[in-house]
Amino acid sequence: MARGKFITFEGCDGCGKSTQLRLLSEYLTKNGIPHIFTREPGGGKISEAIREILLSGKNMEMTDECEALLYAASRVQHLSDRVEPALAEGKLVICDRYVDSSLAYQAYARGLGMDFVSKINAYALKNYRPDVTVFIDLTPEAAFLRKHGADENDRLEQAGMAFHKRVYEGYKAVAAAEPDRVCCVDGNQTPDKVFSDVLNILKTKGCL
Ligand code: TYD
Repeated sequence: MARGKFITFEGCDGCGKSTQLRLLSEYLTKNGIPHIFTREPGGGKISEAIREILLSGKNMEMTDECEALLYAASRVQHLSDRVEPALAEGKLVICDRYVDSSLAYQAYARGLGMDFVSKINAYALKNYRPDVTVFIDLTPEAAFLRKHGADENDRLEQAGMAFHKRVYEGYKAVAAAEPDRVCCVDGNQTPDKVFSDVLNILKTKGCL
């Protein structure tokens, strides 16, 4: 049986990724296309336990390096638990975030650098390069305005926004470096228009 395709979705917090994943899930189910949805960090017992450590407000003293290593560790486990078995069964694997999140958040935004983050993700990068990565391109400023409206913009926590701007710059750099794999979709459009762009990309790339 032919191996399934590995598709990842990326974007800044609030870019509309969850809506697109929901629309894609409905589409794949309606069309009887065998697939699984999964997410990072998480998607399995051990990876979900690591997710809890990573996203818990109780672990504020975690170093940036430890954070990056835990994302990488959870990724390796997740590949073995969920991604590889589904690909081997010929299924489409759709993953909400993957290595590019580590490049954008840990390498760029936290400032750990591409070299360190690529090295600790070498296993995933070498063995499980996504066939397609859909990057929903929406700036953090636009995402914030969409969520809270213009009036609240002043109350924005500046450090938070500076971090998310660096995440966005990181994604743009990754997309520019690998244009064949990373397909950008304009996140400023209506959800339906974004979704029709997503479907076009997946069809063009031979995933659907
Ligand atoms: P989640 O609640 O799943 O957010 P979202 O719906 O935006 O995907 O939380 C995942 C968080 O983890 C998100 O803020 C991005 C971050 N993250 C990293 O910093 N590095 C990574 O490698 C991954 C996979 C996620």
